[in-house]
Amino acid sequence: MAYTGRMGSPAPDNREQEIARHYSHGSLVKTIFDAMKAAGIDPERASADDFSAFDEFHSGGRAATADLAAEMDVAPGMRLLDVGSGIGGPARYFAAHRGCLVTGIDLSGEFCDAAKAISSRTGLGDRTEFRQASAQALPFDDAMFDAAYLLHVGMNIPAKAEVFREVARVLRLGAVFGIFDVMREDGGELIFPLPWASSSEMSFVECAKDYGEYLRAAGFEIEQERSRREFALTAFSKLRAAVEAAGAAGAPPPPGPQILMGPSAPVKVGNLVRMMQGGVLAPVEIVSRKR
Ligand SMILES: C[S@@+](CC[C@H](N)C(=O)[O-])C[C@H]1O[C@@H](n2cnc3c(N)ncnc32)[C@H](O)[C@@H]1O
Repeated sequence: MAYTGRMGSPAPDNREQEIARHYSHGSLVKTIFDAMKAAGIDPERASADDFSAFDEFHSGGRAATADLAAEMDVAPGMRLLDVGSGIGGPARYFAAHRGCLVTGIDLSGEFCDAAKAISSRTGLGDRTEFRQASAQALPFDDAMFDAAYLLHVGMNIPAKAEVFREVARVLRLGAVFGIFDVMREDGGELIFPLPWASSSEMSFVECAKDYGEYLRAAGFEIEQERSRREFALTAFSKLRAAVEAAGAAGAPPPPGPQILMGPSAPVKVGNLVRMMQGGVLAPVEIVSRKR
């Protein structure tokens, strides 16, 4: 793989391994199923939607995925690519609620295994598939997909231009590409840890204007862009209120993204929220089309 990252970054393989390590958990599937049981849900009988409190690893969770889907031109039977699919919540949403066939790729083998385990237990094993791979070298033939999306992944990728070229290559002409990433609003200093990075070495946050340039250079035409800052801040404050209410009642926190992020979740989310409030970062949606 040709290196196109910024000067001073480690070689891609090392960086990608470090990023996969950042997300690694150790006993993810067991932790997820135990958390389901603790929340009174039998994981053997659960639907894909029952997992949505923790399998959507991005600001605003399931609602953000549904909002992006509403802006994307997707129809039942379409083949979708999920770039950086995590444990598969968005893929299962597009499969169960939009009737699509979704292929997810992710750097983390552990996340892919968890994604497969949840999909097969919830009856979506034949409509979703997950492969361990890098977004910079998609293991697919040209023009294989009818649409693609990338949710909260670009913050880990210095070579976004290269990734968007890869996505363009595997999409058919006229296909839509939805992005929902945390982007820079101004040049203020980032405080770590953040949900996607323990330190600045694995964080590559850029502004929407840069995304626009990379997308156009890769052959995409931008159809829509919107900041989701207020929406995300409201979602985070609801999450926090639910955790505080549980704490006040002496109960464990309700199922949520802390399951993926581990004990440092409150610090990581707290830093992100502070930077969103201060106007340094904001989650932004960009919908573009391959021309
Ligand atoms: C914050 S999570 C988002 C997961 C998922 N998109 C979601 O919204 O639930 C970021 C994911 O991107 C993956 N990732 C980061 N860099 C990647 C790359 N270069 N190629 C593939 N996956 C990558 C990570 O392993 C992680 O699963």
